[in-house]
Amino acid sequence: METPIAFEELVKSRGSYKDAVGLPPSVYSDPDFFAFEIESVFSSEWLCVGREEQVSEVGDFFSATPAGEPIIVVRNSESEIRAMSSVCPHRGMCVTADLDGIDDQNMLEPTKFLSGNARYFRCPYHWWVFNLDGQLTGAPEMKDTDCFVMEDTSLAKIAVEIWNGFIFVNFDQNADPLGPSLIKLENTVTNYNLSSLKTVDPAVIPDVPFNWKIMIENFMEMYHNSRLHKGIHDWAPSSGAWYSDVEPTDGAMFGFNPSLEIDGGFNPSYKALFPPLPNLSEEERQRVVFAFIPPTLLIGMQADSAFWFTVNPTGPETHELSMAYLFPEEVLEIPLFDELLEAAIRGVGYFNRQDIPTNIASQLGLSSRFANRAHYSWQEAVIPQFNSWLVDRYEKSLKG
Ligand SMILES: [Fe+2]
Repeated sequence: METPIAFEELVKSRGSYKDAVGLPPSVYSDPDFFAFEIESVFSSEWLCVGREEQVSEVGDFFSATPAGEPIIVVRNSESEIRAMSSVCPHRGMCVTADLDGIDDQNMLEPTKFLSGNARYFRCPYHWWVFNLDGQLTGAPEMKDTDCFVMEDTSLAKIAVEIWNGFIFVNFDQNADPLGPSLIKLENTVTNYNLSSLKTVDPAVIPDVPFNWKIMIENFMEMYHNSRLHKGIHDWAPSSGAWYSDVEPTDGAMFGFNPSLEIDGGFNPSYKALFPPLPNLSEEERQRVVFAFIPPTLLIGMQADSAFWFTVNPTGPETHELSMAYLFPEEVLEIPLFDELLEAAIRGVGYFNRQDIPTNIASQLGLSSRFANRAHYSWQEAVIPQFNSWLVDRYEKSLKG
């Protein structure tokens, strides 16, 4: 595959913060580069689409559109999590398209998709019926079509892997498994017991107006914490930040922002609002871990909880952002949980009101004729790590 940007330019962004420069600014806005990136990165990497507890019962399913592909994630009758295309193999209708609540005002709006519990999926168009594994089990008025074989017809299968409760899908059925590439992260975050935590208050922002990579960079780099967030971030200054080394075989990047006192929190009190997670050491209670499983999953881990974001590109200058908290199940039962959660959400909102407009302005600046390819600080060493990961994928796609 070809890229509209010469590889000799892209490769200048591979390396460490000591030598690499920023990616060519057009990677944040060029529609042709976006198409190249979807193919070179998103068609063969593990993409996080949700959490196991979102499909806890047989028949529970949700719809997602990672990199624009409509898919279904479902717990089948054997209680295993499966992923499949939502595209009906008959005429291309999406079997989970939500046709309820359509009126004259909204009938031209983008398709919405169903989530819930089902015994089967029935395409609303011609009523072809698929079981929870995606196998076609019924198709009206097809018996005279001699060449049609029901047994050979199904929704396209998509590879699934679960890591610590996170559900990943891969459009490449032959992709290497994800788990072995996450050993370093796994060993670092064992005490958070991520697989036992429960997702709380998931929210989706459909049209965030900046390139998906800007979101990743902003979440992961700690250089701006003591600057843009001066005041509210003072309990965890950037000066203490450090990142783990990354080898080309590593499937995650992560870093630590130690705090000045134990059990800090991203809210106006600077203190954790909930009991500390049960197995954390004192050192772990005195830092925040930021982790990235490229290209889509961001995880933050703090003394009393964790939070996760998925970043799903929807265009060269837009992405869909999903956000949720993770808490131990027993914490959901504590008195005043909802009130405390509201305070935590308001704390995060304070950060968002600084980060989001900054990212929107950066998108504008990166589209400017004066946009530059600068060097990085050690406090943002994760960005050239991410750039290196990307350039490796771009190279693989270019050199086949
Ligand atoms: Fe920030």
